[in-house]
Amino acid sequence: MQKTLLLFLTFTISLFAIANESKICQKCHPIIYNEYYDSSHRKAYIYNNSIHKAFWDKHPKDEKGYTCAKCHSPSDLKSLKHGIVQENYTQLNEPISCVFCHTIKDVNEGEMSNTNISSGEKKEFFTAELSKKGQKKAAFETQSSWFGLVKTSKSSPYHKIDYSNENYYNGNVCMGCHSHTNNEHGFDTAMLDAMIDKNYKNTCVTCHMPQVLGTKVTINETKTHAYHGIAGIYHMNKEMGKYIDFEVNKNKTGFSVKVINKSNHALFGQALREGKLRAKILRGKQEIDLEPFVFTRILAKDGKEAMPWAANGTIKDTLVYAKKEINYKHKLLKEDTLILTLGVQLLSKKGALALDLQDNKEVTRFRTLKVQKFNF
Ligand code: HEC
Ligand code: HEC
Ligand code: HEC
Ligand code: HEC
Ligand code: HEC
Repeated sequence: MQKTLLLFLTFTISLFAIANESKICQKCHPIIYNEYYDSSHRKAYIYNNSIHKAFWDKHPKDEKGYTCAKCHSPSDLKSLKHGIVQENYTQLNEPISCVFCHTIKDVNEGEMSNTNISSGEKKEFFTAELSKKGQKKAAFETQSSWFGLVKTSKSSPYHKIDYSNENYYNGNVCMGCHSHTNNEHGFDTAMLDAMIDKNYKNTCVTCHMPQVLGTKVTINETKTHAYHGIAGIYHMNKEMGKYIDFEVNKNKTGFSVKVINKSNHALFGQALREGKLRAKILRGKQEIDLEPFVFTRILAKDGKEAMPWAANGTIKDTLVYAKKEINYKHKLLKEDTLILTLGVQLLSKKGALALDLQDNKEVTRFRTLKVQKFNF
């Protein structure tokens, strides 16, 4: 009886999978699915992301059509192959689906951008789990004990799991889309200097998909799972501050703040994005607000400010690469307290204006990454 039920379940699930791949994962991975549903990966397409929509609306169009699909909606094959923009199920609910990420076999390096190589498997997924790394392709097993009264199951009844793909351990699985996005002038317009270095203690995955409370699957309860909402600008931004250090030093004319970036990419590199460091001195009852420092990269064509697709250079670059030192011409006195607040805006005010999004307060909201006090 149980066997027939399982067969029946597998069969209905398979039918379901053709229509919507990720929804089926929800049955056994509900926490991960809900997080994913609120993530920027689920919202990477035009209809779920007003900034992306505004960019695409302004972007010059040619016969290639929607070339953004390669990274923003690879799960919609029609869009990927023919550059079609369509408001369909895949685009709205899983433009970068669970199956897409979990079947990235390898990443090919390319000049304009890298390319994800899929295993093409629909029911065999890669993942990382150090304790099982040596083991290949786990398949479902059940074990009965107590004369069949207690059943424990191992692995998944729906799919096989391959724990042997190195790309899932070192973060390279992210690099098909996150390495570089060059425009037609060979100029990188998205996040900058992303790289995989085995000497780093943290990877893209440990920082942006940290282990959080809640089971990864309903069948075998675990205490934690990898956060699929993706920690970053949209979620858990306050927790991301721990990967950025401040170092304050007094000098002859005032003081300096070193912002030290412990990640393996430049900070705030996305076009029209802006980081901001606010500094305030508390002196007795006085509060002195210093001029905020803005981290940004202003793209230009032949020396004049331009949109990312037209740019062939920059006219300003104050991003945080490995580190950035900022000098303040204010003397710090004994018993002063200095409060530093680092944050990020999805768009600079100017960027919002350029995209006609100036009325959308969300896009220019200051999102705090880190606050730290220094007493003198
Ligand atoms: C090679 C992969 C790739 C291609 C092709 C690509 N993008 Fe992106 N895009 C990314 C990645 C990765 C991010 C996330 C980077 C970040 O947040 O810093 C991103 C982020 C963005 C953002 C910021 C979204 C936000 O919520 O702030 C916009 C806007 C955007 N892309 C527009 C486009 C448009 C328009 C196209 C097509 C003309 C395009 N991209 C093509 C990889 C790509
Ligand atoms: C019928 C239930 C079921 C369905 C449906 C299901 N899974 Fe699973 N999955 C499991 C179980 C059970 C495990 C735990 C295996 C273990 O711990 O040994 C698992 C484990 C995994 C793992 C590896 C976790 C790890 O660290 O060991 C990945 C990745 C995964 N599933 C992805 C998916 C995706 C993607 C889908 C949807 C296409 C999906 N699963 C649908 C039951 C399911
Ligand atoms: C298929 C391409 C693709 C893959 C693979 C991919 N991403 Fe993304 N990622 C994107 C795109 C596109 C965006 C921008 C979405 C948007 O428009 O806001 C993005 C956004 C992000 C952001 C910014 C979101 C935020 O809230 O700050 C982070 C962080 C991120 N991805 C991390 C990762 C990590 C870590 C991996 C690897 C486990 C990964 N991505 C794999 C395409 C991809
Ligand atoms: C952007 C790529 C990406 C997407 C989209 C994605 N995953 Fe994952 N997933 C990963 C990576 C990378 C890991 C490995 C995390 C680690 O090292 O612990 C992972 C881990 C897992 C695990 C094991 C959890 C753990 O704690 O080890 C499960 C189960 C899983 N994913 C299921 C899903 C399901 C279900 C979906 C869709 C709702 C999904 N994934 C969407 C990249 C992705
Ligand atoms: C040591 C931790 C750490 C590692 C490793 C790391 N990041 Fe980040 N990442 C951060 C922090 C901190 C930020 C800044 C906070 C923010 O903007 O969300 C950030 C920001 C981002 C953003 C948003 C950038 C923007 O301005 O649009 C993306 C996308 C991203 N990381 C992807 C990746 C990818 C892909 C990798 C692997 C190559 C990676 N990160 C490795 C900590 C890390």
